[in-house]
Amino acid sequence: MRFSSRVPGSLELSRLARLIAARPAQWDLTLSNPTIAGFDYPAGLPEALADPGALKYEPDARGWLPAREAIARHHGGRVSAQRIFLTSSTSESYSWLFKLLCEPGDRVLVPRPSYPLFECLAQLDGVAVDQYPLIERMDWAIDFEALEQLATPRTRALILVNPNNPTGTFLKSWELERLAEVSRRRQLPVISDEVFSGYGWSDDPALVRSLAGETRFPVFVLNGLSKPAGLPQMKLGWIVAPEEAVARLEWIADAYLPVSAPVQRAAAEWLRLTPGMTEQIRARTLVNLGAAREALAGSAARLLPAEGGWCAVVELPKVLREEDWVAAFLDKGVLAHPGFFFDFEREAFAVISLLPAPGAFREAVNQIRLTLIERLL
Ligand SMILES: Cc1ncc(COP(=O)(O)O)c(C=O)c1O
Repeated sequence: MRFSSRVPGSLELSRLARLIAARPAQWDLTLSNPTIAGFDYPAGLPEALADPGALKYEPDARGWLPAREAIARHHGGRVSAQRIFLTSSTSESYSWLFKLLCEPGDRVLVPRPSYPLFECLAQLDGVAVDQYPLIERMDWAIDFEALEQLATPRTRALILVNPNNPTGTFLKSWELERLAEVSRRRQLPVISDEVFSGYGWSDDPALVRSLAGETRFPVFVLNGLSKPAGLPQMKLGWIVAPEEAVARLEWIADAYLPVSAPVQRAAAEWLRLTPGMTEQIRARTLVNLGAAREALAGSAARLLPAEGGWCAVVELPKVLREEDWVAAFLDKGVLAHPGFFFDFEREAFAVISLLPAPGAFREAVNQIRLTLIERLL
């Protein structure tokens, strides 16, 4: 059988993946699944799936209107339900937008370091990515000069992750002004992935929380229940589209009609419970951040400054390569992501999840501290 170049030619595991598979960790600091992290999910969550109205199939390409209206309220009324599209995940949202904006072989700009799935998602839609750098010494601000050099006539969209994963840094108001100017001048729509936007740790007014309601340039805002409500298994994402794109995006949506009726009917109730879940998860990330700071204080590693998100970035001494640091942590029972997983431009970083239960997290970061001491003796 011949396979498309959209899927990899070789599916061989990397050295690190083989190591991890052979030695399950005691403490998983790559945890990104909140449903297995011991949070208290409110009663009423599963009951919301039992709406008998879901027994009748009445598909609407954009999604069930009351669900879209609840999402519009979740966005503080800054966007109309008419511009909201329900999808079965943020990944599907990206896929629809690549279909909407790109010819096969066109390109999209993605941030670096960032969410590792972009290349795969783009490749699946026959699209190529160019990574624009974020500047470490400037709080991971967008390198606009580099971005403009990377833009070609085939560049059809600019992806922004706000706050960025894994650096946990938000877009700043001065960046938004430049972004608006570049987007308008180059006629480049912006795709703003805001799945972590409720997880800020600072109330600095210079941080841009959301591009929903932005009208100076074309923006598609992506979000879903996965992070804000801690409900990735419910598979409900959404796109807030600019007015001019609504009709054609609806044409794509009409070909898929993807979100199941019980989930659409439950969405309003789950959104009502979302602020409580966000707050519970956010509070834990802050407790764990404090524990990581304490454990690493006075060590040869340091936590990079951040403003939110679900993880922290640890800068490690360069006596070992990232891969070897991660293997050394694994020897102590701790699994962490190496920086290269997120395409950091330099070594050595490890990315640790702030989701685990605080007791386990504290033990894990103490093991990291011990590893550092042993390796530097
Ligand atoms: C930046 C970013 N966007 C999207 C997602 C995934 O969202 P979904 O579960 O809705 O596909 C993740 C998951 O970690 C993420 O980090």
